[in-house]
Amino acid sequence: MMQFSESTVARFAKEVAKYPAEQKASAVMACLAIVQHEQGHVSADAESAIAAVLDMPAIAVHEVTTFYNMYNQRATGRYKLNVCTNLPCALRDGDKALEHVCSKLGVEPYGSTPDGVFTVQPSECLGACADAPVMLLNDRQMLSFMTPDRLDELLAMLKADAETNPSGDRPRYAADEGRT
Ligand code: FES
Repeated sequence: MMQFSESTVARFAKEVAKYPAEQKASAVMACLAIVQHEQGHVSADAESAIAAVLDMPAIAVHEVTTFYNMYNQRATGRYKLNVCTNLPCALRDGDKALEHVCSKLGVEPYGSTPDGVFTVQPSECLGACADAPVMLLNDRQMLSFMTPDRLDELLAMLKADAETNPSGDRPRYAADEGRT
């Protein structure tokens, strides 16, 4: 089973301490977020190891990982693009936005580019239906009104950043400042 580092175990303990001893399982989301932050994704091994720490069945941890699409079940590219294809967005070209991104990057939905820069995923409602079509960049930045032109602008900016700043901080999408 996966062994977590001392610092990871300490971070888990801090989260577990927020709950009564018999409710350790309540820290599961925080522990998953810690693992994803450190490893980039949550593997089945990591789920089992978290289950052992929290005294809960591994399947219960897996149910949480698979319910929320912010948890990556496999390694993703530097930029994870979640394009909303739920009905309100679909009625305003959300499906076309997903197709556009996939075709521009030459990937299928849930796929990653071979250079490890992009991962593209369809997404359930992101809670910003009035701004459709919308997408979420790296689980944090909501991008609104993603027309083909804006998608092209975004992809070009992210590609350029990956080339010129291979290990730097991930940039915000300048054209969307003020919308998040
Ligand atoms: S349906 Fe896309 S944000 Fe709600």
